[in-house]
Amino acid sequence: MSDAKRELLEITRAAHAWVAWHEECGSDGLPAGDPPPARAARDDARTQGARGPREEPRTPRAEPERPAFAPPNRREAAPPPEPRKAPAARAGAPALPIPSTPFEGAAPASAERRTRLGVLAEQVAPCTKCELAKARTQTVFSRGNPDAELMFVGEGPGADEDAQGEPFVGKAGQLLDKMIVGMGYARDDVYIANIVKCRPPGNRTPEPLEMATCLPYLTEQIELVRPKVIVALGATALRGLLGPGEGITKVRGTWKLYRGTIPVMPTFHPAYVLRTPTPEVKGMVWSDLKQVLKQLGRSVPSRKD
Ligand code: URA
Ligand code: SF4
Repeated sequence: MSDAKRELLEITRAAHAWVAWHEECGSDGLPAGDPPPARAARDDARTQGARGPREEPRTPRAEPERPAFAPPNRREAAPPPEPRKAPAARAGAPALPIPSTPFEGAAPASAERRTRLGVLAEQVAPCTKCELAKARTQTVFSRGNPDAELMFVGEGPGADEDAQGEPFVGKAGQLLDKMIVGMGYARDDVYIANIVKCRPPGNRTPEPLEMATCLPYLTEQIELVRPKVIVALGATALRGLLGPGEGITKVRGTWKLYRGTIPVMPTFHPAYVLRTPTPEVKGMVWSDLKQVLKQLGRSVPSRKD
């Protein structure tokens, strides 16, 4: 095959993956005015960073009273597919408009969910669909409770995760565990997964094509777990879940919706907090997590650093 043909094929593949990614993210169409994937990833790597953004966050904003979401209820018996009504808002809280691509039907029952997640993990283990397969030791699928109401999504495995086969078991993971316990959960009450299941060499940011190739696995995980809230840890998780848009520094602390169904709270990646452990950064993350607790109707424990 000539070089030109190969290049054309690669461009076509990337374009398909890009569109698929947007569909996975629930977009109705291609976003206007966003940078192309390669450029977006480079910009992102420069400003937000891979396992931890390099950008200095701006001076913290005053925390305004933010409305709670009123997303659709997840564990209800499957309603017949009929036009969705706007869900009832919590007392005093305006409901957000729910975009057009919610999950259909109810989440599977616990036993089925566990079985299907097990099957999916077995499918992922030998996956060689993208370049990241070459340098990994093993795939890293998930940890925690498949019935969790709360799911954390990170970027991709680092060296420790690659060695142990579990997400967030290194230094950033230890901090994440502290955050989880600080929220009043036990470590394994929540479900944790990453955008890509294989370690990018040298902990680089996953390429858009790698993310797009791996995302269907995460989509299925989310569809099966059907958490009530997702916390997006850092810029790559945010981009993977919601598509390209504003950076993590800008949107952290504000509610987004995954597929028009599940509220997403973007916050800083714990690796960034480790690198920039200022009271301001820690305070911002804690304030984001407090919003999550409020959304889940849980009491807010006082913070222990
Ligand atoms: N950073 C991530 O984003 N995910 C992990 O699993 C570990 C570190
Ligand atoms: Fe497969 Fe995802 Fe690993 Fe790529 S990162 S090889 S798509 S499991």
